[in-house]
Amino acid sequence: MARKNIAAGNWKMNTSVSEGVSIFNDISTNRIDNDALVIIAPPFTHLQSLIDQKKDNVEVAAQNCHFENSGAFTGEISPEMLKNMGIKYVILGHSERREYFQESDALLAQKVNSALDNGLHVIFCCGEPLEVRKADGQNNFVAAQLKNGLFHLSEKQLANITIAYEPIWAIGTGETATSQQAQDMHAYLRSYIAENYSQEAANNISILYGGSVKPDNAKELFGQPDVDGGLVGGASLKSDSFTDIIASF
Ligand code: PGA
Repeated sequence: MARKNIAAGNWKMNTSVSEGVSIFNDISTNRIDNDALVIIAPPFTHLQSLIDQKKDNVEVAAQNCHFENSGAFTGEISPEMLKNMGIKYVILGHSERREYFQESDALLAQKVNSALDNGLHVIFCCGEPLEVRKADGQNNFVAAQLKNGLFHLSEKQLANITIAYEPIWAIGTGETATSQQAQDMHAYLRSYIAENYSQEAANNISILYGGSVKPDNAKELFGQPDVDGGLVGGASLKSDSFTDIIASF
C-alpha cells in the first residue's frame, strides 16, 4: 500500500453492536470526501455487522488476532477467520495488549507473519512508557520494538505494514505529544527504516500518531511532514469528533 493519509479509529472494548453500527454509518455518511483512508476497528462482535453495512469510504479493521489459523485456542480469533469475513486490516501490538495481555515482541512477530500470510494489512503499534520518555530513551525503545516485531520482514512484506506511534503516556490521558515530539519520532522511525531497508521503503510507509488525538489538535499533528494521520481512541467513539478529525487533513 502506498503512503496515505489515514484516520483509524480504535474503539477498544466500547459500544453495543447497535451503537457501533449507528456511529459507523454516521461516519460514513458525514465524512468529508477527501483522500484520507478511514478505518474503524470495533470489537470482534461488531465486525460482521459493520462489514454488512459498509460503503467504500470507511474500512473495517480487527483490533487483534491470533497467529494460528485454527486450533485449540479458546477465546481467540484467527487471521484466516478475519480474511474469510472480508476484513482487510488488523491492529497488532497495541500497548494495552502488550501490557495487559503480556504480548511480547516475539509473539507480535509471529502474529505479523500470520496476518500478512492471510493477506491482511497490519497497523503495528509501538510507543514508549513515561519513564523511558523522561530518561530520553524513547528512540532506542521504539526502534527495538520495530526491529523485533517487523524487521524480519522482506521489503515487499513491509509494504503491507502501517506503523502507529503511540507514546503510552499520551493514550487516554488527554496529554498529547506535541506536534514536534511526534514529528521527531516519526522522522527518526523513517530514517531507521531507510537504514534497514531503503529510502523508498521509508518514503512509502505510512506512520500514524496515536495518543489523545482530538479535533482541536489533529490539524497541527497531521500537518507535520512525517505524520501521515492518526490512530484515534476516545475521539473515534463520537461520529462528529471523528469526522472533524478526518476533515483535518
Ligand atoms: P486515545 O487512544 O485516542 O483515547 O488516547 C489512542 C489509542 O489507544 O489508540
